[in-house]
Amino acid sequence: MTVNGRAVVGTVEGRELLSGFLRDHLSLTGTHVGCDTGQCGACVVHVDGVAVKSCNMLAAEADGCSVATIEGQAAADGTLNALQQAFQDHHGLQCGFCTPGMVMSAAALLQDNPRPSEAEVRAHLEGNLCRCTGYHNIVKAIMAASGQDVSGIAAE
Ligand code: FES
Ligand code: FES
Repeated sequence: MTVNGRAVVGTVEGRELLSGFLRDHLSLTGTHVGCDTGQCGACVVHVDGVAVKSCNMLAAEADGCSVATIEGQAAADGTLNALQQAFQDHHGLQCGFCTPGMVMSAAALLQDNPRPSEAEVRAHLEGNLCRCTGYHNIVKAIMAASGQDVSGIAAE
């Protein structure tokens, strides 16, 4: 497969999850594992441009695919992309555990729907849990990254 544009090769047991392959074989630990049962969304990556929970996919199923992880979102010099910067600017994270999955889910949303409504953002994040922020600032960050006014979004 390719991961963040780099060709990688690995041999895994049939039961190895994509999340485990990324973290344990490639040391890409930005993909977090919160539940390992498809519920929290901390492990979201893109596979061939589609957001997937990498704990719900076998590594072998990604054979030949193009995988994007949070590590590939910033520029090579560490400059955050617009979505990541919006999370920082709008305080869309606290402990940060959910953040990689939030960013990758949001990136997939904005790819398909560049100016989502607040309701669409909230619906899209249904599969991503955050135990810190109360979600408002995450929604603000995503709306701001799409160039929209966020002054009317519920206060923190
Ligand atoms: Fe994959 Fe929670 S670790 S959904
Ligand atoms: Fe802590 Fe979301 S910032 S879980």
